Amino acid sequence: MRSATASAPGKFVVLGEHAVVYGKPAVVLAIDRRFRCTVTESSRLLLNGMPDDLSLHPHMRYILGEHEVHSISIGTDSDLPSGSGLGSSAALSAALSCAVRTLIGKPADEKDIIDEAYEAEFSAQGIGSPMDTSASVHGRGITVNIPSDGDPLWTIERNGNKWEVCDIHAPEMTFVVGYTGIKALTGPLVEKVRRYKDRNRFAKDIVDEIGSITLDGTDALRRNDRVRLGELMTADHKLLSILGVSGPELNRLVDAAAECSYGAKLTGAGGGGSMIALTDEPEKVCETIRLHGGTPMIVKTGVPGVTVDKTS
Ligand code: MEV
Repeated sequence: MRSATASAPGKFVVLGEHAVVYGKPAVVLAIDRRFRCTVTESSRLLLNGMPDDLSLHPHMRYILGEHEVHSISIGTDSDLPSGSGLGSSAALSAALSCAVRTLIGKPADEKDIIDEAYEAEFSAQGIGSPMDTSASVHGRGITVNIPSDGDPLWTIERNGNKWEVCDIHAPEMTFVVGYTGIKALTGPLVEKVRRYKDRNRFAKDIVDEIGSITLDGTDALRRNDRVRLGELMTADHKLLSILGVSGPELNRLVDAAAECSYGAKLTGAGGGGSMIALTDEPEKVCETIRLHGGTPMIVKTGVPGVTVDKTS
């Protein structure tokens, strides 16, 4: 039986989540935690060795449907807890799209995979930006809608919003992720912010303010100005809290980590999931996160995007 394995990285959002859904800027780094998918020819549809109709996996269903593949065995293996705010579902979509295309011999460049992975995410969530899928497909670091960034890798438009995605060469910095252990679904959190923003002028101003902070923060990241970037991350967390996407567990970890780092914030959709801290003392921040009930991980950035890892 022929098979193909592909993998794609998770990510954390340095600045700009939620506001990016409305076309505001964002900056995101891919991390050294990956989602791997192995697809093997099969006479039945199997997921991790068991028959499955994929009704609980709309991303997978979408991707197989795109290629009219009805019988296949899919094996998954992930370093990314699902619902942790680290982009596990975007990484799954990118890895599966790449693996299926490799197995059936369809050529795939980054643009083919981003288009398919974003459609898969959108079909599952019904709302959202192509930020997570772009970070997973391209790897390293990306910016979204930062005006001075030159030629975009790709531009995606939907529902009156436009996202120009560019590569960013971020200097080496150490970030610590703290996972609350609480799984949170992105779709309902994005929907909650959308309702608030549509009904309330103040919430709209907060979304604009996140956009401005993100522009300043991207400059600070490029200049390797950790003090300024940290301040802006902490400020961004306060704005995200006002939008209602933080929670007591996240605030506890962010407040504790901010005391001993340049700055800290929730990352991703919020509502649980994870926070990040920018630090020169990762072990100290890890200990603080542990003491406050979270699971710390020191993450490395500058990693490749989606890759074919094996074929047979
Ligand atoms: C989730 O990782 C990021 C959000 O901005 C949603 C999105 O961009 O689709 C909350």
